[in-house]
Amino acid sequence: MLFKNTIVRCASAPRTLQAEEDPGQRAVAMPLLTRFRHTRATTVGLCERLEAEDFVVQSMPDASPAKWHLAHTAWFFEEFLLGHFRSDYQCFEPRYGLLFNSYYKGVGQAFTRAERGLLSRPTVRDVMDYRQHVDSAMEELLARRGDDAEMQRLAELGCHHEQQHQELLLTDIKHAFSLNPLRPAYQDQRPPSLATAAMPLRFAEFAGGVVPVGHAGSEFSFDNETPRHQVLLQPFALGKRLVTNAEYRDFVTAGGYRDPAHWLADGWAVVESAAAGDSLSQMFGDVWEWTQSPYSPYPRFKSWSGRIAEYNGKFMANQFVLRGGSCVTPRNHIRATYRNFFPPNARWQFAGLRLAKDC
Ligand SMILES: [Fe+2]
Repeated sequence: MLFKNTIVRCASAPRTLQAEEDPGQRAVAMPLLTRFRHTRATTVGLCERLEAEDFVVQSMPDASPAKWHLAHTAWFFEEFLLGHFRSDYQCFEPRYGLLFNSYYKGVGQAFTRAERGLLSRPTVRDVMDYRQHVDSAMEELLARRGDDAEMQRLAELGCHHEQQHQELLLTDIKHAFSLNPLRPAYQDQRPPSLATAAMPLRFAEFAGGVVPVGHAGSEFSFDNETPRHQVLLQPFALGKRLVTNAEYRDFVTAGGYRDPAHWLADGWAVVESAAAGDSLSQMFGDVWEWTQSPYSPYPRFKSWSGRIAEYNGKFMANQFVLRGGSCVTPRNHIRATYRNFFPPNARWQFAGLRLAKDC
């Protein structure tokens, strides 16, 4: 165990890996400094179960080493806040920008994503020192410039960005462990048997109509959740629960992969409107639910301005939207309007299926 301050739930429910506290329910009242500290400590806490070798492994090009996630989230605060709002900021190591910039072409070069696992240096200890350096500088910035709206906006974004990487850190470790014949486990506790958990699969019908989609209100959202707009839905029905692993196994063994008829299903898109009711279960925090909605901009979408404009908009091609959050998504990071996105061949997240049909 390299680090302390773990804030990990150890219950046996599917949400075993999520952060213990639920600051999102209190986000409006929580001072930004408190939220910043909580977010940063949670990331380190998630690593307490890792051993030194786990921090460096990169099991595939889409996954990143835990060490990289730790450093990249620090770099985000350094690049987009400290370097901009503090003229006296002393950069921890200028060369880190090359290593820990993910994809922001507007701020400089980025190291090859698929080769992040080759970076044995800086060491984990170096990266933790880097995080502490950034934390100290950020705390001073938040104290000095707490009334600066733009700084607040970016600091809030930095916390949400770090929460995204908390989930990625866990799913990337999951993938790495899954390739190891010794079957290492992130935690010893197993969820209780799911043999009796699934209720009979029934559908809930929805009338459709013109429904609002997208984020509204003053609380944080990513730019890809806006603007709120109207969508016309034809009558539809959704499975009241998710498809179970056993059902999916039955589908495969029955030849489902060999029958193209099953891969031409009509699209269903707007879980968001259905999520407003209470007729469906497992809508949030179990697995990300694939939709057949292309990840594309909402009508009249505008990306954020400035150097952060690359955050979401440039990925709006050849990917599909996933909804609902998974068992490793920080709980206060989950909301109905959140649009996660992956290419259809991405399989290493906690993702699943819900049946849908026209009425
Ligand atoms: Fe990132």
